[in-house]
Amino acid sequence: MISLKGKRVLITGGLGFIGSNLAHRCLDLGAEVTIYDCLDPKSGGNLYNIHDIRDSVHKILDDIRHFEPLCAAILHKDILFNCAAFTSHPNSMKEPLIDIDVNCKGVINILEAARRFNRDVKIVHVGTSTQIGRMIRKPIDETHPEFPADIYSANKTASEKYVLIYGGAYKLRTTVLRLANVYGPRSNIRSADFGFMNYFIGLALQDRDISVFGRGEQLRNISFVDDAVDALIRAAGSEKSDGRVFFAGADRQYNVADIAKAIVKYIGSGSIRRVAWPRDREAIEIGDVVIRNALIKRILGWKPRVDLKTGLLRTRDYYRPRLRQYLD
Ligand SMILES: NC(=O)c1ccc[n+]([C@@H]2O[C@H](COP(=O)([O-])OP(=O)(O)OC[C@H]3O[C@@H](n4cnc5c(N)ncnc54)[C@H](O)[C@@H]3O)[C@@H](O)[C@H]2O)c1
Repeated sequence: MISLKGKRVLITGGLGFIGSNLAHRCLDLGAEVTIYDCLDPKSGGNLYNIHDIRDSVHKILDDIRHFEPLCAAILHKDILFNCAAFTSHPNSMKEPLIDIDVNCKGVINILEAARRFNRDVKIVHVGTSTQIGRMIRKPIDETHPEFPADIYSANKTASEKYVLIYGGAYKLRTTVLRLANVYGPRSNIRSADFGFMNYFIGLALQDRDISVFGRGEQLRNISFVDDAVDALIRAAGSEKSDGRVFFAGADRQYNVADIAKAIVKYIGSGSIRRVAWPRDREAIEIGDVVIRNALIKRILGWKPRVDLKTGLLRTRDYYRPRLRQYLD
């Protein structure tokens, strides 16, 4: 097992879904954890996500768009995980300038803070599989061209390149992990704006019906959050990840309709309805996503461990006693 004993870790976006799960794991592995998050109301951030570790982490409630507090936060850190983002595809189409501010300028702020005040920090930035847009060959690997279909994904493409540019030009230690459809505890399950799967889980937990757009035949690579966190930690702990981009996707795909069926089977008692695609969603839909994860397996020794049934049951068991904290 990787040890982070004595490592000083900064997690931007640490109150959100992935960042808070990462904070828990980093503490378990012996790190000193600082969370930097502005609790953006249009994101999946939730203070409850760290209620059980609030006395063990240092918390800075601030924005990655604010350069000075970011510079202060990055001092003396060994690892920075950037999980802060304007995370909604549909919201990025409604508020493209905010998306640029957070997902591009915010990332430049992080990189500049590192360049000026802490060149030794290892930066692990989170990208997204949707940077690719529609697949032009199958499966997608790290060499596949990027033609993103929405503003969030386009800005993620840009910010990924900033991270690599700073790595190359200023000899910063930077890595990008592109994640895809992550589900599990501590996500925003209230709103359809943050990915269909966690939203479906939220509906199932309330025994409500799930609406699938169209036939639901498009394939998705889905990952349980613990597997995503494991990939992030491996990237942080290895020099072999410096200057590289990895897809951290699951070994297999499911179509959206089958994911909905599994959610109803293991979590709820509602039924599944087929509805017509809303125009705004259809406009940014990318079709099948089939990811090759050979590179991260080979270089970092990562592999996804949690199958769909296990992941859904663990997710159900997390939310059931705490549903109000995520739905009110
Ligand atoms: N969840 C997924 O399926 C998925 C898939 C691919 C990539 N990602 C990426 O993973 C990262 C984490 O996503 P998540 O699912 O945990 O999202 P999330 O919305 O749950 O968390 C994002 C966190 O960032 C914080 N934040 C937003 N703007 C900020 C700002 N300007 N300054 C400081 N903090 C800010 C929010 O308050 C929130 O706590 C993001 O970069 C996202 O793009 C997620």
